[in-house]
Amino acid sequence: MFSAKVQDAINHQVNNELSASYIYLAMAAHCEHENFMGCAQWLRLQSQEEYGHGMRLLDFLLARDGAVKLKAIAEPAVKFKSIANVFEDALKQEQETTKEIDELYELTLHEKAFAALVELQWFITEQVEEEKTAREIVAKFHMCKDDPSALLDLDRELGGRAPTGA
Ligand SMILES: [Fe+2]
Ligand SMILES: [Fe+2]
Repeated sequence: MFSAKVQDAINHQVNNELSASYIYLAMAAHCEHENFMGCAQWLRLQSQEEYGHGMRLLDFLLARDGAVKLKAIAEPAVKFKSIANVFEDALKQEQETTKEIDELYELTLHEKAFAALVELQWFITEQVEEEKTAREIVAKFHMCKDDPSALLDLDRELGGRAPTGA
């Protein structure tokens, strides 16, 4: 079993992942409202992925006989200047998550919570992928600028995202 410090930190990360899920859901709703149905589909799937990350940590905590303590999820901000801006925010959010995971890893290392270190390695690898994907999408939006046909193509491409098991 983990120290109270490690349990608190994992519970906090469950909240971070569920908050990310909620923010992606708000982004999806915004895009769908703006008729960017492909972007909305991509973001809905991303929301589900983040929910999966939260559940993965929750299940891990329970498997180690830890105490789950669910916290309040903050209301997402839904002010976006453009659809590109939605994905710029998504990239920022992923960069923040990477920091959170790194800090959690550092804490578990310090606390010698070895099972958590192994579990968190999955999250470290996942963040490399998450940041890379978001960065590529932002770059594509920057290439499209305000060209409607390019934006429609990109929307169609994002809508082709296949569901992935988190
Ligand atoms: Fe995540
Ligand atoms: Fe993520």
